Amino acid sequence: MAVIAIGSDHTGFKMKQEIINYFTSRGYQVKDFGCDTSDCVDYPDYAEKVATAVSEDNKCLGMLICGTGIGMSIAANKIKGVRAALCHTEYEAQMARNQFNANVLCVGARIMERDVVVRIAARFFRSEFEGSRQTKRLEKIERLAS
Ligand code: RB5
Repeated sequence: MAVIAIGSDHTGFKMKQEIINYFTSRGYQVKDFGCDTSDCVDYPDYAEKVATAVSEDNKCLGMLICGTGIGMSIAANKIKGVRAALCHTEYEAQMARNQFNANVLCVGARIMERDVVVRIAARFFRSEFEGSRQTKRLEKIERLAS
C-alpha cells in the first residue's frame, strides 16, 4: 500500500482534510504537508513540499489540491522525478498510473465534487504502472528536462 503525501492551498484545505480522513480510516499512511488553515497561501509552496517528498521516496504517491488543480500540476512537474497528472475522471487516474507512471495526482476543489475526488484518488492509489513499452516514452520525457 502506497504512502500518500498530500498538500493543498487554501481552496483545497477542507477537501484535503476529508481526503486524509477517508484514506487514513482505510489503512493508508498519509503525510500531511499543509496548508493547515483556510487562510490564503500560495499553491507552489505546497506543490514543492509534496513533490519533493515523492521524488525522495519511491514508495510514496502524492496528491495536491488547489482550486483548479492546474497550478499544482504545473508547479509539481518542475521537480525532477515527478510526473504530476491533473485528473477529472477515474479513467484518467488509472491511465495516469498505468501508462504514464504518474506519481502525483492533482485535482481542483472548486470544480470537482468531494465524492468524485475520493473515487479518483482511490483508483489512482491502487493502480500500478504497466511498464514495458511505456518506459521508453517516459525516458524521452525525462530527457526533455535535461
Ligand atoms: C487560488 O486562488 C487559485 O489560483 C489556485 O487555487 C488554483 O486554482 C491554481 O491552479
